[in-house]
Amino acid sequence: MAYSDKVIDHYENPRNVGSFDKGDDSVGTGMVGAPACGDVMKLQIKVNPQTGVIEDARFKTYGCGSAIASSSLVTEWVKGKTIDQAAELKNSAIAEELALPPVKIHCSILAEDAIKAAVEDYKKKHTVGS
Ligand code: FES
Ligand code: FES
Repeated sequence: MAYSDKVIDHYENPRNVGSFDKGDDSVGTGMVGAPACGDVMKLQIKVNPQTGVIEDARFKTYGCGSAIASSSLVTEWVKGKTIDQAAELKNSAIAEELALPPVKIHCSILAEDAIKAAVEDYKKKHTVGS
């Protein structure tokens, strides 16, 4: 199966690889796995607590090219968005941007799940006493 140019670009030049300190109050961490193939994706966001805007994002993905490309793309997309906007990100938009074939759709779902989990984690840290 041929990968699209965008998948190859993100795979060869992944954006925002790395991680933030999980314990940092301004960081939300999402870690998800794909039962179908065993791939694992960690996606982290750094949020401005005043505005709720995502200022930076990082990922680490152990998986196929499409999973790496999906997480790389998501870290680019969520920067400058509010956490609520980021949580609305749809895997179909990722799949469309990367021109993923049907068997690789679950790779983009992994990225959607990861960003949602990261937002959830951030929110959990900031609902102190409520
Ligand atoms: Fe093997 Fe994703 S299925 S790396
Ligand atoms: Fe399983 Fe891509 S995440 S094949």
